[in-house]
Formats: sequence, C-alpha cells, structure tokens
Amino acid sequence: MKIEIQSSPNEVAEFAAKYIAERIKEKPEFVLGCATGGTVVLLYQKLVEYSKLGLIDFSHVVTFNLDEYVGLPREHSQSYYTFMSYHLFSHVNIPEDNIHILNGGAKNLKDECEQFEELITKSGGIDLQILGIGRNGHIAFNEPGSFEDTTTRIVDLNYDTILANSDGRFFSNSNEVPRQALTMGVATILNAKEILLLATSGGKSEAIALAVNGPVTPLVPASFLQKHSKCTFIIDDGAASRLKNK
Ligand code: GLP
Repeated sequence: MKIEIQSSPNEVAEFAAKYIAERIKEKPEFVLGCATGGTVVLLYQKLVEYSKLGLIDFSHVVTFNLDEYVGLPREHSQSYYTFMSYHLFSHVNIPEDNIHILNGGAKNLKDECEQFEELITKSGGIDLQILGIGRNGHIAFNEPGSFEDTTTRIVDLNYDTILANSDGRFFSNSNEVPRQALTMGVATILNAKEILLLATSGGKSEAIALAVNGPVTPLVPASFLQKHSKCTFIIDDGAASRLKNK
C-alpha cells in the first residue's frame, strides 16, 4: 500500500486526476471504477476540466460505479445515477452504453447484482477503482462486518452511514435516506487491477489510521486494502493526522 500525503483537498483531487488522465492516455479503452460522495466531487471537476481541455478522451472509457441506493428512482436528486451524471458523465464524451450503475429500482435485485459482476468480468475487469472511505471504515457500502469474499449484493446501511449522508450535504434528514443499497463487494473491489482511495479532512483520520496501521479485519472493511498489490491512498494532512510512522 502506498500513501501520498497532500496539503489540501484540491491537491488530493489534482494528484488523482492527473494520474487517471495519464492512465487513460496509455489505454483509451480504460475500465474505470467510479465512486460517489463529497470527497470525489473535486476529482470529477478536474477530470471534466481536463476533458474540456482535450487532455482526456472518454470516448472509449467504460465505467462501473461502486454502489447505489435501493428504492430510489434513477432520476431522484440523491441517486448515485444523478450524482454521476451531474458531476461527470453529462460533461464528458463518454457513450451512455459504456456507463454501468447498479439499478436500485430493479425488480430482481439479486439478478441485478449477478449481471453487474458478469459485466465487469466481460469488460476484462476494472483497471482502476476510485474509492472514498466512510468514517466507520466502509468502502463503497461494505459496512463494518463485511467479509473479504463478498461480491456485489444487497446490504443494510449502518446507522452511522445513514447519519453521515443526512447532514444536509445529500439528504436533509435521516428518514429520507434509504435503508438498503446495492454495492460491489470487498472481493469485487480487491479484484480491480489498481485502487486509488481518496480521503480528506480530520473527520476521516481515524478510519484512515485503522485502515493503514490496524489489523486486517471485517470490522474495518478498508483494512482489506492492505492486501492489494497496487493500492494508493491519496489523502490530505487532516486525514493523515493519526497515521503512525508518517
Ligand atoms: C458513501 C459512499 C462511499 C463513500 C462514502 C464517503 O457512503 N457509498 O462509497 O466512500 O460515502 O463519502 P464522503 O466522501 O461524502 O465522505
């Protein structure tokens, strides 16, 4: 695991965006794993900027999103489908057919998850997965208690996660937050050829310290990333503040 410590959220986003742009230049049919959440908004802003400057061509890029709420229609303002369209997809030249986001409104959610795994395999696997991290150490919606062999599935959200997503940034109160989600599993994420995890602010410092310095345990799903051969944490000073041996 590699740790890149940057001095601000803007530098975290820039470091990650430059890296992703380089990788897409090397392989135009790049398979990119996308994340949602406040942390990655700046990263997508930079990717859009680079695309407008002609520095990234998304026309052959294929994407798979980590997760989606169950029961929210795609057009709901807080669905991850809407998030991705608003922050990235509607601003770049990616073909609609190349975008894969789990449908939390599908009639058969189990089939939806199985088909998603098959599509990832058919695409040749994810070249680079972008990740955020929850304050409770979750990755995607793999909450504490998620095991290493989990694949895409239906999960219940932890109360911590429901609260974190109802602080006014996304939902305005906890009753509005769906109780379940579809999420790539820990094994699905670890199968990506490369992983970039972004975290900013002191609020993430405990989760980062546990993920990096703590034991590998399902109680901190992000700790499984210690086992990945090409995983980089790109974090700011605040998120790095509790790391040992900086
Ligand atoms: C949600 C997403 C996660 C993301 C997390 C962190 O729970 N499912 O994939 O990592 O939010 O979000 P933020 O960046 O807003 O702290």
